[in-house]
Amino acid sequence: MSNEKNKLTTSWGAPVGDNQNSITAGSRGPTLIQDVHLLEKLAHFNRERVPERVVHAKGAGAHGYFEATNDLTKYTKAKFLSEVGKRTPLFIRFSTVAGENGSADTVRDPRGFAVKFYTEEGNYDIVGNNTPIFFIRDAIKFPDFIHTQKRHPQTHLKNPNAVWDFWSLSPESLHQVTYLMGDRGIPATFRHMHGFGSHTFKWTNADGDGVWIKYHFKTEQGVQNLTEDVAAQIAGENPDYHTEDLFNAIEKGDFPAWKLYVQIMPLEDADTYRFDPFDVTKTWSQKDYPLIEVGRMVLDRNPENYFAEVEQATFSPGTLVPGVDVSPDKMLQGRLFAYHDAHRYRVGANHQALPINRPRNSVKNYQRDGQMRFDNNGGGSVYYEPNSHSGPTESPQNKQAAYPVSGSADSVAYDHNDHYTQAGDLYRLMDQEERTRLIKTIVGAMKPVENDEIKLRQIGHFYKADPEYGKRVADGLGLTIPQEV
Ligand code: HEM
Repeated sequence: MSNEKNKLTTSWGAPVGDNQNSITAGSRGPTLIQDVHLLEKLAHFNRERVPERVVHAKGAGAHGYFEATNDLTKYTKAKFLSEVGKRTPLFIRFSTVAGENGSADTVRDPRGFAVKFYTEEGNYDIVGNNTPIFFIRDAIKFPDFIHTQKRHPQTHLKNPNAVWDFWSLSPESLHQVTYLMGDRGIPATFRHMHGFGSHTFKWTNADGDGVWIKYHFKTEQGVQNLTEDVAAQIAGENPDYHTEDLFNAIEKGDFPAWKLYVQIMPLEDADTYRFDPFDVTKTWSQKDYPLIEVGRMVLDRNPENYFAEVEQATFSPGTLVPGVDVSPDKMLQGRLFAYHDAHRYRVGANHQALPINRPRNSVKNYQRDGQMRFDNNGGGSVYYEPNSHSGPTESPQNKQAAYPVSGSADSVAYDHNDHYTQAGDLYRLMDQEERTRLIKTIVGAMKPVENDEIKLRQIGHFYKADPEYGKRVADGLGLTIPQEV
């Protein structure tokens, strides 16, 4: 049907004569290669997918804003925190970790909590989870860990043997395993969970003085979780349950909000604290370092287009602004490489120029060219440095804060190896009913493990965290606590 005012065009803008019938030799065909509209249409369709994220593939996003509610300028010179009441636009993406794009939302898995603040001094990303800790504490173990969470290379099935083999041989995972197997392992919705930066970061003020910090986003909706049975039922009936919940809440004006807090540790405490504060398997006691309010995040606008905004969004813990630096955390250090490398592969070298990722202030540098460079590519402006053409220059006051280091370059483990106290504390914090649900979940998850040695090794870790914890898991699995524990 023809519509003179709204003509269908090819991607090169020419009106399309027929979008229902390909050009054929006579009514029976064959089809002629001269149908360039058909060729273009089929070829473009073949290229509709970019690689999904290797982890955190399934997710949902939303736009919103952050409002600073506390004057913390004595700790950080970050411009978006420079004045109470200052608002900064942001984009957030929530996700599960292990499942593919299209997998069910209501699985037991950490949830990604990635926020991009479009600040006046560039983008700042906090790429955290809904858990304050992680399974491992050295980036070198991440690919192996994720292999155990993904599918077996032969059967293409999830593999509990690998999961528990790896965890039982990596006791640093015990704290996070306890968290994941507990009630918070399956949030009711993305709106009903907290978010954490998880790692230690450094804030630096205008005088160059630093402090170590950890971020906590506290949901104003309250924490709500799903039980294993309800979650399984929802996963079958509506695998996109969390995605739908977020979209619908925002669409009807029920805007979810979180308060952002930080824990602040003086730099010198890092040398004397009772464990290594850069170890991401540990939380800092809130008695030692209480929560200090920073601001409020509100999500008030849905994306217009899922692919353009959510799929092409690229977050990295290395996307920093002046006033925020990294810490020596060995996981965080590895992540500084992994993310933009993934983005260059998944989205392309110019991913930061896409509308969802581009900073709201102007980008001025000497990078040019590359695939899909779709802006004016710097035009005729100066394209090298140093130059005598008044090109953009560095601002030394924005160098990363200096950090003294010492020691021999070597492959060395963390020297703090208490994997049990905080995991046990978390167990003891649970009431009897929550403990019972925790044990049931763990027993259910470990039952399919074929090798008793793996089960006993893991039971030993639970036992060391709290003897009752270990005994109850052992009883549930019909095993006895190993002598050597
Ligand atoms: C996504 C690597 C640890 C949170 C990703 C992606 C990679 C990756 C390659 C996909 C990025 C993309 O394609 O856009 C790693 C490595 C880690 C690590 C190598 C350890 C060395 C962590 C930790 C957290 C975390 C500790 C949380 C505290 C996330 C989140 C996403 C993500 C939230 C999804 C971001 C989005 O929504 O686009 N990770 N990760 N990761 N990771 Fe990690």
